[in-house]
Amino acid sequence: MTKSLALLLAASAAATSGVAAQAAGTYEGAAPSPTQSRNTTSNVSTIVDVHISARAIDNAPDGYVPTSVNCPSDRPAIRNGTTLSDQEKEWVVQRRNETIEPMRELLQRISIPDFDAEAYLKDAESNNTKVPNIGLAFSGGGSRAMLSGAGAMAALDSRSVGSDADGNLGGLLQSSTYISGLSGGGWLVGSIYVNNFTTVADSVSSGNIWQFQDSILEGPEQYALLDYYTSILEACEKKAAAGYERSITDYWGRMLSYQLINATDGGPGYTFSSIADDDDFKNHKAPFPFLVAVGRRPDEKIIPINSTVYEFTPWELGSSDNTVHGFAPLRWIGSNFTDGEVPKDGDCVNGFDNAGFVMGTSSSLFNQIVLYLNDPNSGYLPDSVPSVAVDAVTSVLDAVGSDNDDIADWTPNPFKGWNPDENYNADEDRLTLVDGGEDLQNVPYHPHILIEREVDVVFSFDNSADTEMQWPDGASPIATYERSLTNISEGTGFPAVPDKNTFINKGLNSRPVFFGCDASNTTDPSPLIVYIPNYPYIFQSNTSTFKPSYNESERDAMIENGWAIATQLNGTRDRDWPVCVGCAMLSRSFDRTNATVPEACQTCFDRYCWDGTLDTSTPETYQPDYYGTALDIESGALRRVAAGAYTVLGAGMVALMMI
Ligand SMILES: *[C@@H]1O[C@H](CO)[C@@H](O)[C@H](O)[C@H]1NC(C)=O
Ligand SMILES: *[C@@H]1O[C@H](CO)[C@@H](O)[C@H](O)[C@H]1NC(C)=O
Ligand SMILES: *[C@@H]1O[C@H](CO)[C@@H](O)[C@H](O)[C@H]1NC(C)=O
Ligand SMILES: *[C@@H]1O[C@H](CO)[C@@H](O)[C@H](O)[C@H]1NC(C)=O
Ligand SMILES: *[C@@H]1O[C@H](CO)[C@@H](O)[C@H](O)[C@H]1NC(C)=O
Ligand SMILES: *[C@@H]1O[C@H](CO)[C@@H](O)[C@H](O)[C@H]1NC(C)=O
Ligand SMILES: *[C@@H]1O[C@H](CO)[C@@H](O)[C@H](O)[C@H]1NC(C)=O
Ligand SMILES: *[C@@H]1O[C@H](CO)[C@@H](O)[C@H](O)[C@H]1NC(C)=O
Ligand SMILES: *[C@@H]1O[C@H](CO)[C@@H](O)[C@H](O)[C@H]1NC(C)=O
Ligand SMILES: *[C@@H]1O[C@H](CO)[C@@H](O)[C@H](O)[C@H]1NC(C)=O
Ligand SMILES: *[C@@H]1O[C@H](CO)[C@@H](O)[C@H](O)[C@H]1NC(C)=O
Ligand SMILES: *[C@@H]1O[C@H](CO)[C@@H](O)[C@H](O)[C@H]1NC(C)=O
Repeated sequence: MTKSLALLLAASAAATSGVAAQAAGTYEGAAPSPTQSRNTTSNVSTIVDVHISARAIDNAPDGYVPTSVNCPSDRPAIRNGTTLSDQEKEWVVQRRNETIEPMRELLQRISIPDFDAEAYLKDAESNNTKVPNIGLAFSGGGSRAMLSGAGAMAALDSRSVGSDADGNLGGLLQSSTYISGLSGGGWLVGSIYVNNFTTVADSVSSGNIWQFQDSILEGPEQYALLDYYTSILEACEKKAAAGYERSITDYWGRMLSYQLINATDGGPGYTFSSIADDDDFKNHKAPFPFLVAVGRRPDEKIIPINSTVYEFTPWELGSSDNTVHGFAPLRWIGSNFTDGEVPKDGDCVNGFDNAGFVMGTSSSLFNQIVLYLNDPNSGYLPDSVPSVAVDAVTSVLDAVGSDNDDIADWTPNPFKGWNPDENYNADEDRLTLVDGGEDLQNVPYHPHILIEREVDVVFSFDNSADTEMQWPDGASPIATYERSLTNISEGTGFPAVPDKNTFINKGLNSRPVFFGCDASNTTDPSPLIVYIPNYPYIFQSNTSTFKPSYNESERDAMIENGWAIATQLNGTRDRDWPVCVGCAMLSRSFDRTNATVPEACQTCFDRYCWDGTLDTSTPETYQPDYYGTALDIESGALRRVAAGAYTVLGAGMVALMMI
C-alpha cells in the first residue's frame, strides 16, 4: 500500500460517513434528482475490497503503472517519420476495400441525379483509383465539442437508428478511412475506440460512461467520492514510485477515464495501443484513429507557425514534421530509448500509454480543472475532497511550476538522440506534450493533410469557441492554412481559406462550406476540406468550454443538435445537402479519372465552394439564431462546487485561448 493511500484510509476512517454526508450536501438549490444520490454507503473495508477484487489487469502488465516486461525479439525502435509506416500502408489497403460497400450503399441512397454510383464503382474492389479516400476530423472545445461532435458522428454512423432516413448521412463513418480527434474531440474518438468501437447511442445509454451530470471533481455517482480519489491517487503514486515523472495530466487523465472508459475505476490497465487488438480494428471495420497533441518544452511558447504536431495512433506516437521525423512504438513507450532504440542492456516497458493518459494529453489544457483542487480558499471546493488529494496535487504543482500546468510528461523521451540534425528535442531527457489545440489548430486536420496519405476529402466538425459568443469563426482552419505556408509544413497540403472577418461576413461559419474545390489552385496536393461549423439548429450549442456538467437532457440536446449540424437538420435547410455530401466525397475522384462532373454536383460546388472572394470589414457581433424549432429542455441546476470552479477557471483562461 502506498503512503498516500494509507493516509487517505486513515483520514477516511476518522471521517467515516461524514465524508459522504458532505458530498451529498455540496449541491445547491434544485429539487433532489437522481444525480444527487451518490453512493454514500461504502466505507474503508469496501474500498479495500474494490481494489483487491475489481481492478482489471486488462492488457497493461500492472494497471496504471508502467512495468518492465520481456523484450520482443525485434527490439523496439524509432521509425523514420519521413514516410508512412509499412504497417499503415498495408492496413489501409484493406480498410479502403472495406469502405467500398458502405460507400456504394450511401451513394445509392443519396442518389446524385444523372449519376450511376453502381456503375462508377463497379470494379472498385480490383482497382481503387475511383474510390474516394475519406477522413473525418472532430475539433476540441471541451464537453461542448465532445457532445456536438458525438451528434455528428452518430449521424454519420449507419448503426444509428434513423441514419438511413431521407436527408440523412448514415454510412459516411463506415465509408471513411481515417478519423481524428483532439482535446474534447479526442474524448469522443478515444472513448468510442477504447470501448471497442461502440456507438454514441450505446455510450449515452450505458449508465456507466458519458454521465456528464457528474462533475469531474466529484466523479461518477456510482463511485463513493473517497473511492474515486483513492483509486486516482494510488495509481499516480504508484507510477511515481516506479520511477516515472508524474504530471498533473496523470491525475487529469485518470479522472477523465471514469467518464470515458467503460470499466471499473475507468480502466487503469486500458492502454491506447490495445485498440490495435480489437476485432473491429484488426479486421479493418473501423477508420484508422488519430489523437493529436502538440510538443511544448517547458517555458516555450507555441504558435501554428512553429508547433510540432504529434499523432497518437494505436501503433505509434510521433511526428511527421521535419522537427522530429520519427515515430515510437506506442506500446513500448516508457522504455529508455537511446539513439532510436532500446539498447541491448535496457529494459522494455509496457503500460505507459494508458488510454486515459493519452486522452488527457490531447486535452491537457483542462489540467486546470485538477489544479482547482489546489485552491481550497476559493470556497467552492467541497469539504469532502480528501485533503490528501489536495496535498498530492499541491506537491506535483510545486514540482512543475505553474507555467507548466498544461504539460503531459512523456519522459523518458523516446526520441532522445534520434535524428539530431532535425529533432528539436534530441538532447532532452524529457518529452513534454500539451493540448492539441494550443497552437490554435483546434481542428485536427494534420493527419489528413499528409500528401502521402492521399486523402481526398476531410469532413471536419469545428466546435471551437472563437467568437465572443463562443461560436467558431474559422480560426482553426486559418491556423492550419498559415502553417501550410511555412517550412514546417513540408509534406502536407492545405487549401487557401479566408480571414476571420470574411468567414463571418460571408456566413462561412454558419453553414457548411467547401475549401480547395479547385485542386489545381494549391501548390501542394490537398484534400477537399468540408468545413462544418457549430450552429444552433435546435439548441444553443455554444455552451462554455468550461461548463462543468450537463444534465441528461442538455447532453442529449447537444447531441441532437450535433446531428442536425451534420445533416443540416435532416436536409431541411437544404434538400440537396446529402447530394452535395456525395459530390464532396467524389470530387477528387472525378478529377483523378477526368470524369464528367454530374450537373447536380456542379450546382453543389457553386453553392458550397468558397469562391475566393473576401469581405474583411469588421463584422457585428456574431449571434446566430435557431434554424429549426428550439428543443424544450429542462436546464440543469449547476452544482455549486463545479459551477464556481469552472467560472473562475474560464475567466482566467480566456487570455490563454478560446478553444
Ligand atoms: C463498514 O464496515 C463494517 C466492518 O468493518 C461493516 O460491518 C459495515 O457493514 C460496513 N458498512 C457498509 C455500508 O459497507
Ligand atoms: C455502493 O457501494 C458499495 C461498495 O462500493 C456497493 O456494494 C453497493 O452496491 C453500492 N450501491 C449502489 C446503490 O450503487
Ligand atoms: C474486399 O472486401 C470485400 C467485402 O466488402 C471482401 O469480400 C473481399 O474479400 C475484400 N477483398 C480483399 C482483397 O481484401
Ligand atoms: C484503374 O482505373 C483507372 C481509372 O478508372 C484507369 O485509368 C487505370 O488504368 C486502371 N488501372 C488498372 C490497373 O486497370
Ligand atoms: C432527424 O432524423 C433523425 C433520424 O431519422 C431523427 O431521429 C431526428 O428526430 C430528426 N431530427 C429532427 C430535428 O427532426
Ligand atoms: C467488440 O465488438 C465486436 C462487434 O463490433 C464484437 O464482435 C466483439 O465481440 C467485441 N469485443 C469485445 C471484447 O467485447
Ligand atoms: C460497457 O460494458 C458492459 C459490460 O462489459 C457492456 O455490457 C456494455 O455494452 C458496455 N457499454 C459500452 C458503451 O461500451
Ligand atoms: C515559436 O515562436 C515563438 C514566438 O516567436 C517563440 O517564442 C518560440 O520559442 C518558438 N518555438 C520554437 C520551437 O521555435
Ligand atoms: C531508464 O533510465 C533511468 C535513468 O537512468 C533509470 O532510472 C530507469 O530505471 C531506466 N528504466 C528502465 C526501464 O530501464
Ligand atoms: C529518413 O529517411 C529519409 C529518406 O530516406 C532520409 O533522407 C533521412 O536521412 C532518414 N532519417 C533518419 C534519421 O534516418
Ligand atoms: C479529360 O477529358 C477531356 C474531355 O472531357 C479531354 O479533352 C482531356 O484530354 C482529358 N484529359 C485527360 C488527362 O485525360
Ligand atoms: C487560389 O489560391 C490563391 C493562392 O493561394 C488564393 O489566394 C485563392 O484564395 C485561392 N482561391 C480559391 C478559390 O481557393
